[in-house]
Amino acid sequence: MEATADRVAEQKYNFEVVRWFTVMAVVYLVIGASVGVYIASELAWPFLNFDSPYLSFGRLRPLHTNAVIFAFGGCTLMATAFYTVQRTCGVKLWSDKLAWFTFWGWNAIILLAVLTLPLGLTQSKEYAELEWPVDILIAVVWLAFTFNFIMTIAIRKSSHIYVSNWFFLGMMIMIVYLHVVNSLAIPVGVFKSYSLFSGVQDAMIQWWWGHNAVGFYLTAGFLGIMYYFVPKQANRPVYSYRLSVIHFWALMFGYVWLGAHHLQYTALPDWTGSLGAAVSLAMIIPSWGGAVNGMMTLSGAWDKLRTDYVLRFLIIALAFYAMSTFEGPVMSLKTVNALSHYTDWTIGHVHSGALGWVAGISIGAIYHLMTRLWYTEMWSEKLVNVHFWTATIGTVIYVVAMWVSGIMQGLMWRAYDEYGTLAYTFVESVAAMHPYYAMRAVGGGIFLFGATIMLFNVLMTVRQSAKQGSLSTARGTDIPDVWPDFVRDYLTRRLHPESDGASDTGGYTNKPATSQSKS
Ligand code: HEM
Ligand SMILES: [Fe+2]
Repeated sequence: MEATADRVAEQKYNFEVVRWFTVMAVVYLVIGASVGVYIASELAWPFLNFDSPYLSFGRLRPLHTNAVIFAFGGCTLMATAFYTVQRTCGVKLWSDKLAWFTFWGWNAIILLAVLTLPLGLTQSKEYAELEWPVDILIAVVWLAFTFNFIMTIAIRKSSHIYVSNWFFLGMMIMIVYLHVVNSLAIPVGVFKSYSLFSGVQDAMIQWWWGHNAVGFYLTAGFLGIMYYFVPKQANRPVYSYRLSVIHFWALMFGYVWLGAHHLQYTALPDWTGSLGAAVSLAMIIPSWGGAVNGMMTLSGAWDKLRTDYVLRFLIIALAFYAMSTFEGPVMSLKTVNALSHYTDWTIGHVHSGALGWVAGISIGAIYHLMTRLWYTEMWSEKLVNVHFWTATIGTVIYVVAMWVSGIMQGLMWRAYDEYGTLAYTFVESVAAMHPYYAMRAVGGGIFLFGATIMLFNVLMTVRQSAKQGSLSTARGTDIPDVWPDFVRDYLTRRLHPESDGASDTGGYTNKPATSQSKS
């Protein structure tokens, strides 16, 4: 019986922390995308700065990047990693306490980012703006996340370690080391510090981190998601397990060497940029290994795309992944980079990766999780389809606008007249961007509209589950789902004094409220 299977799963695993990460991911997607649409509009219609430093582009841009990468992306990674590792290892998380510490710690970091970045408190390192006390907190919370994950694998019941977990692990270990080294700084006050590195070394360390934030966090972690959720949603085994192992190791050993491609034609020795470009080109192979493996998982079952909207998200994400990992190596070549660097082309590239790939695979995984974690159908399948189209169309409009504006910018900046002087002033190039900036704001707005629909659909699904009592049935308790853990715990103890109510999780127990069993 379905209800029995649900109850077994619910009691065997810690899904509660996964549920909270999942919902928060969707909330942060909407917030992060809203800030994005706002700053995109500032570039098109500068009056939106309202002459306020707190609303200026320079302060809100890092808020946007931190919100989408670390708040949305982070919560998605934590939800999916904790879910996948439990499912594939057949055991509960090693420590519920550490899992909840990870949840609250990560959200505290996000809150600190929201407070400090608009105030202009920043280390001025891209994707690593937060000041040193927050950096320390990030290291602690990330280690808690990593340690719990590793220990869960250590106590697994399955014989081998499923490939998703390899990717998650690769990401976790590399991020610890990248984050710590890049954040090394000498504090001169609570809100101010100076990097331990200076000059060109600082630039190199920064882009070693910056590129690998992309390579390990936004790529390896989300490939971990892909390897669990694509086969699950398609109900088919991974196309080639061997390919997944090969491209895992190729990615792990290759990706770390690419950082220099962000610093072509700078004070960095010339050969480092060439080496960065050469390894970047080689990375097409492992990247496409993953993309092909994911897509071919559908071979023979392509018709599923006609009816399965969640699968559509996952597969279009892989298409964007393949595209941006082709584009990236091309951009890393010196001749191409001479045109593309400092222009909106880079922004176009970023967003085909970030909106198309990262957000796409995350959204697909979250829709999949919704029905598994709340034991119900999506409140509206139609709205999932509407979301799919708004997300795809919004992303394409955004990326195309930035490609056109970026290439135009690059060509205008390098155009000479017959006297050898620059054909355009800088401000002429700025004026020429206006229509594309407006177009980008519209594309982003469409994407945001879809994300808002998702949030609504997600909240309605949670409500529907509460109404149907499906989660309560799985939990084997009569306390309504809507209450937070500590309230549920308290009520359980009051209503069922015969049970031991609270578990050591500090959250509600995974045991049925009436059961005395210690399993
Ligand atoms: C093999 C794969 C990839 C390679 C070789 C690559 C290469 C590059 C290059 C050459 C740039 C421009 C550097 C510059 O001129 O300043 C860049 C920028 C960027 N890429 Fe990629 N890329 C790859 C995949 C991706 C993916 C999948 C994503 C997103 C998930 C992504 C996100 C970014 C971001 C965020 C930047 C902007 C960095 C900045 O702030 O300047 N890349 N990438
Ligand atoms: Fe890069």
